[in-house]
Amino acid sequence: MHVTKDIRYVGVDDHEIDLFEGQYVVPNGMAYNSYAIVDEKIAVMDTVDKRFGDQWLGNIEAALGGRKPDYLVVHHMEPDHSANIARFLEVYPGAAVVSSAKAFAMMKNFFGSDYADRRVVVGEGDTLNLGRHTLTFLTAPMVHWPEVIVSYDSCDKVLFSADGFGKFGALDAQEDWACEARRYYIGIVGKYGAQVQALLKKAAKLDIQTICPLHGPVLTENLGYYINLYDIWSSYRAESEGVVIAYTSVYGHTKAAAALLAEKLAQKGCPKVTVTDLARDDMAEAVEDAFRYSKLVLATTTYNGDIFPFMKEFIHHLTERGYQNRTVAFVENGSWAPVAAKVMGTMLEGSKNLTYTRNNVRLLSALSADSEAQIEALAQELCD
Ligand code: FEO
Repeated sequence: MHVTKDIRYVGVDDHEIDLFEGQYVVPNGMAYNSYAIVDEKIAVMDTVDKRFGDQWLGNIEAALGGRKPDYLVVHHMEPDHSANIARFLEVYPGAAVVSSAKAFAMMKNFFGSDYADRRVVVGEGDTLNLGRHTLTFLTAPMVHWPEVIVSYDSCDKVLFSADGFGKFGALDAQEDWACEARRYYIGIVGKYGAQVQALLKKAAKLDIQTICPLHGPVLTENLGYYINLYDIWSSYRAESEGVVIAYTSVYGHTKAAAALLAEKLAQKGCPKVTVTDLARDDMAEAVEDAFRYSKLVLATTTYNGDIFPFMKEFIHHLTERGYQNRTVAFVENGSWAPVAAKVMGTMLEGSKNLTYTRNNVRLLSALSADSEAQIEALAQELCD
């Protein structure tokens, strides 16, 4: 597959994976992208997951028509991209590795060598000339690890964006880009909004016509759409108006309260209502929705003088990713000493710029006339 006349796709699709990065379900698989720039010199951009080394090396061989690569450019050292570095360097003993100083320190830890005799260390603004193509390197620390660099090819106006602008899903998956790119971004890079903003500012100075990420499709059209979404996500602004009701329920009473609230919100014309069962639905999807929409209702039971474990995990996912700038409401349940709202409030204390609703809901075991009236009041406040 040609990205441009000189840039070829040599990555692989993975439909065998169960959990990406050990925790994310990927029903449509995963792509580990790699590219070859074929010029007077040849640069291969990143490797692929360890399990696909044979296929990837075969792709390179087929793409190069008998020529051999001169450089392996390593943008990111996470093993989904770096696992085949040592193998590549064995197969191509004449090739040099191009990467950041921090990446070479990681190579020593992963592979036992920092390739001192065959490496090119690059930093901010450094260039690599291949002939017609010149790569300029930009540092992108914490997008998604500290050693990350991205590179810009001024000849074809291509940004090699590392994990940035990636998504879950193999390349042969027919699915909406934003849905799985958002779940990927919030889950994996969401904590590092400030660093993504810094990278977007650098990228804004470049004339970019194509984005080649390490996961997901090559982006060639309407780049403003993708860049705008990254700007929204990394600045922690709500992407859409709407209410996410995230609940846990032991015997169904808190679930009934969540359902009643959803029904009332829909009746009142709330633009979007999403209900998620934190014990059963995909946690990463729930976290994605919390960041996507403007308002969040947390509904849970009091449990061991604390809150139910799945809610605790959910709030932890939010706070560690810098959850902020949203409206939050609490629905608590407790059969003898309800403390869930207090516990949830304490967990969110460090989160910036949250607006708490005046109306919250307290269930004393099951729905009652009192708690139904509280749900009505909360629904009205969330819609106002
Ligand atoms: Fe796709 Fe951070 O590795």
